Amino acid sequence: MSKNILIVDDEDGIRYSLRGILEDEGFDVSEAESGEKALEHLNEDQPDLVFLDIWLPGMDGLEVLDRIKKEWDWLPVVMISGHGNIETAVSAIKKGAFDFIEKPLSLEKVVITAEKAVEFSRLQSENKALRTRIAAEQPARLTGQSESIDSMREVIGQVAPTDAWVLITGENGTGKEIVARSIHSQSQRADKPLVAVNCAAIPEELIESELFGHEKGAFTGAEKAQEGKFELADNGTLFLDEIGDMSLKTQAKILRILQEQRFERVGGRKTINVDVRVIAATNKDLFQEIKNGNFREDLYYRLKVFPLEVPPLRDRNKDIPLLIDEFITSLNRQHGFKPLTFTEPALNILTEYSWPGNVRELKNFVERMLIMFGGKEVGPDKLPPEIANGPRIEKPETDQEQLPLPLPEGEVDFKKARADFEAQFLEAKLREYKGNVSKLAEAVGLERSSLYRKLKAYEIQVD
Ligand SMILES: Nc1ncnc2c1ncn2[C@@H]1O[C@H](COP(=O)(O)OP(=O)(O)OP(=O)(O)O)[C@@H](O)[C@H]1O
Ligand SMILES: [Mg+2]
Repeated sequence: MSKNILIVDDEDGIRYSLRGILEDEGFDVSEAESGEKALEHLNEDQPDLVFLDIWLPGMDGLEVLDRIKKEWDWLPVVMISGHGNIETAVSAIKKGAFDFIEKPLSLEKVVITAEKAVEFSRLQSENKALRTRIAAEQPARLTGQSESIDSMREVIGQVAPTDAWVLITGENGTGKEIVARSIHSQSQRADKPLVAVNCAAIPEELIESELFGHEKGAFTGAEKAQEGKFELADNGTLFLDEIGDMSLKTQAKILRILQEQRFERVGGRKTINVDVRVIAATNKDLFQEIKNGNFREDLYYRLKVFPLEVPPLRDRNKDIPLLIDEFITSLNRQHGFKPLTFTEPALNILTEYSWPGNVRELKNFVERMLIMFGGKEVGPDKLPPEIANGPRIEKPETDQEQLPLPLPEGEVDFKKARADFEAQFLEAKLREYKGNVSKLAEAVGLERSSLYRKLKAYEIQVD
């Protein structure tokens, strides 16, 4: 297949001779006499290669190059440089131009450069396609070595083969979908499809046809019969995502289908039987939603055969460095970024940040840093302020560990318990020393004045 080349130059003579050289080599050539015209052309149709003059009236070559790199970054651009323009040509290369040729044009150089550029762009897109395929073929992998992830992995291993329905809960971005996929891939249905339905994204009036399919002519616009998600998931897994965002009306419909595993397509009369395993997920507290009258209790119990809670990232922050490594590796494989390292102090900040958007926020952050600082080392000064100065994980209270008595958690106010204990202790000791505060101070290792303050605070009588 012949390759298309766009020549951008205001000089008729240059366009004419370039066209001649390139057409002789079998390229298809189009022309633009200004940067503005070139962008217009590119908006409609992208060639395989652009020859771009550096000096143009109006928008100049470097500006055009910037625009091309922004919108069509895969498109190779060869700069045409006049005499004494070499420095500019070099800076164009830094901005992402593939190469440059000098005026007066050398026939040989033009042809070789054009062929090299087209080959380069072919290899690049092949590479990209390969990377995307590799990424798509990666199984759902749950990264983490914290106790909570370990035990979740264990639970997944136990529940996956049982065919039980699972309700996954957890904050936004904690990894609910990855957990659902990992259950499916370890189940007996692994070689059948997992069909995901985002309940929040489907408009109310379309939900029935989306889930159950429709017959031809069932409604205006139904030009042919279509299978619904339930049918597509037959013998596989149906992943009902964002289940807390379904309207009550839809909940009623879903409940009936889930109980019967039988339904009719919209506009159809034939009953269709399916065998699906349902995994549902939500970031809402469904129990609260039931109380507020937004979620059906019967549907809740139907779905919650096996509840699985994915903990927020701040409760397993020991996994953060591991996740960062994992994302650097996988994003590099996918997009070919240069590797990136975080210094120890930067890593400490990242580990203590509370990540309200959880693993998704962390992954997006890593991607942003790879784009900005690929190939470099990132210290605290390069971290975005919203993270460097953002909310921190609260340190666990050390008070609790120093308590003299093991007290049931959650039922006692620890501070008060300790104060009560101390007051009783001091009162008893004071009696033992027959009211001699100096002796008591020595025995408990406190300064007299501090002891007096404590006794006063505890309202212990000193005579
Ligand atoms: N433990 C993990 N290991 C590796 N990647 C993870 C892990 N947890 C989450 N991710 C990644 O983080 C992103 C968010 O995860 P996922 O979509 O599963 O979260 P979610 O809980 O469904 O989020 P939301 O509530 O926003 O839909 C995904 O790109 C996922 O691959
Ligand atoms: Mg999700």
